[in-house]
Formats: sequence, C-alpha cells, structure tokens
Amino acid sequence: MKSRILGTGSYVPKRVLSNADLEKMVATSDAWIVERTGIRERRLAAPGEACSDLGTHAAQQALAEAKVQASELDLILVATCTGDSPLPATACRIQHRLGALQAAACDISAACCGFLYALSVADAYVKTGHRYVLVIGSEVMSTVMDWTDRKTCVLFGDGAGAVVVGRGEGGNGILSIHLHADGHLSDLIFIPGGGSTIPASENMLAQRLQYMKMKGNETFKIAVKTMEDAAREALTANALTVEEVDLFVPHQANFRILKAVAQRLGLPLDRIAINLDRFGNTSAASIPLALDEAVRAGQVKEGSLILLAAFGAGLTWASGVIRW
Ligand code: ACO
Repeated sequence: MKSRILGTGSYVPKRVLSNADLEKMVATSDAWIVERTGIRERRLAAPGEACSDLGTHAAQQALAEAKVQASELDLILVATCTGDSPLPATACRIQHRLGALQAAACDISAACCGFLYALSVADAYVKTGHRYVLVIGSEVMSTVMDWTDRKTCVLFGDGAGAVVVGRGEGGNGILSIHLHADGHLSDLIFIPGGGSTIPASENMLAQRLQYMKMKGNETFKIAVKTMEDAAREALTANALTVEEVDLFVPHQANFRILKAVAQRLGLPLDRIAINLDRFGNTSAASIPLALDEAVRAGQVKEGSLILLAAFGAGLTWASGVIRW
C-alpha cells in the first residue's frame, strides 16, 4: 500500500514587497536582486498575522480539495522555523482552529527541508494504518529577517502550503522520500539568539542575534550539489530517468541554483515549477506552495511523475518522488 496526496492548498499574505521597495530600505537594486536570485517580489504577513494564521488558510483549502473533514484527521504536522511562539507547537493552534479534535499535533523543524521531512512522517503514519495526515509548511520569515542586512532580507518571503495525505490505490502515490542532514555545516544558516544557547535578553536584542545569519556564497555551492545528488538518489531508487519526470518541484531559493541543478540533471526549465520570482524563499512553505500552484494550473495530472528536492539550514537536504 502507498500513501497519496489527496488534496493541496496554499495561502500567501496580501502585502507585496517589491525589489523597488527594498531599494528604499537597504543598499540594493532591482537589477542586482533579479540577476543574482531571480526574485522580483515577496509577500509579507500583516502585523499580528502568525504562522498558524497562514497555515490554517492553506490547510482549509487542502482539506476541501481532499474532501476530508478536519474531524477525520489523525495527525497534523507543521513544518516551520518561524512558529507562533516557542511553546506550544504551532500545529496545536492549527488543530484547535480547524476543530480537528481527534488529531495528534506537533511541529517539525528542518528549515527548508521541513515539508519533505514532515511528508515522510505522514507517509510512514499512513502506511502503518492511520487514515489521514495533514502536512503544512508555513513560514513568517519576515519576522526573522534583519531588515538592515541586504545579504539576507532580499531573499525571503512569507507563505504557507498544505497537503492531506491518505491511502493510495494501485501503484500511484508517494514512491519514495530520502532525507539527509550534516550538522557540521550548522553555522552556514542559523539564528544565534532566542534559544537555550543565547536566551532572549536586552543584550541579545542589541546585537541583533534574533535574526537569521547566512553564508550565502558557501551555501550556494553546497545547495547545487546536494539538490542534484538528492534528485539523482530519488530517481535511482525508483529506477526512473530524468526524461520520465513530468514536473520537478524544487525548494525555491534562487533561480541560479535551480538553473544549475536543471543543467546538471539535463532537465528543461519548462518542466520545473518556479514561483520564487513572486514569493522569494518561503523556507518550509516553498515546495507545498509551488506544488499547489502547479496542481491548480493543471500541470499535475493523474499519473504525472513529480520529483521534489530541497536543501536548507542544518544543513539538511531531501528528495521525493510521487506518481500522482
Ligand atoms: N544588493 C546588492 N549587493 C549585494 C546584496 C544585495 N542585496 N547582497 C550582497 N551584495 C554584495 C555583497 O556585499 C558582495 O559585495 P562585495 O563583493 O563588495 O563584497 C557582492 O554583492 C557579492 O556577494 P556574494 O555573496 O558573493 O553574491 P552571490 O552571487 O553569492 O549571491 C546570494 C548572494 C544571492 C545570497 C547567493 O549566494 C545565494 O542565493 N546563496 C544561497 C542562499 C540560500 O539558498 N539559502 C537557502 C537556505 S535558507 C533556509 O534554510 C531557511
């Protein structure tokens, strides 16, 4: 028996922050951002609009598409690194909002790979007899951006995507998910303060340690290699070739990364779901958001072969293959 995605949903906040807007905030230019990243604009949550708000909207859509009631859910997983608060899990807040009274709920922290990590748990849960698992990727990255640091603040955006996972029929469904991590690269992308190493304090805030720090150039090189390796691992494990892939839905970090990975794999760009020009990098929300857009645009049909791949802080990297 395979598990299967029964419905998808997504949500982005209304406020658009364009590259022209960023030009007024830091020493950058639309030309630099477009050339180096492919990003033209991103969405920002309204003040007080939290991770659970974005995630609940996306989840409601996914449940409606899947024709599953919230009361039928066995488990809710929220992949996020920008949850509502350190305690409780954002998944518990969403469980309450949805009225999913039978569902267990917890968050998964694996940065931009969070959605694939959560999807692998959902896959295992369904295969061991549970009926429906809701997987949400939701991020309010704008809250961990240092809006004076041009090296990071131009890259990220807010958004959410969700899928309902249930039992598949025949050979269709999630064919495989591979997960990886290498903690010795944990200082490539990290938020130094606000946890148990450097708890919140006036001093910590004064040093701006609550914001994300990233070694962009080093991350770039590793990202291209790990995304390619992860994609190849997924295809090899299923005895598939690149030619058989109908749509590649990658983590949306940088158009240059996607172009380099596509070239290395020999995959034409028109078979890659790309929305980072409009939303930037939404971390754990990026894959389910792009997947939902592709489903709604009719790019994903019964029987389509979908390849997923991501990399992110940790360092983590992951891939998956779905026969829709
Ligand atoms: N506007 C103008 N100039 C800038 C900007 C900006 N926004 N940002 C950096 N620069 C400057 C730098 O200061 C540097 O100037 P210098 O040569 O005078 O020192 C120059 O541009 C080149 O900087 P690089 O960092 O070498 O630029 P690069 O081409 O590598 O692009 C970028 C930077 C876009 C960050 C790229 O390295 C990248 O995308 N890396 C991957 C990041 C990523 O994907 N992270 C994902 C994980 S996120 C997660 O897990 C939550």
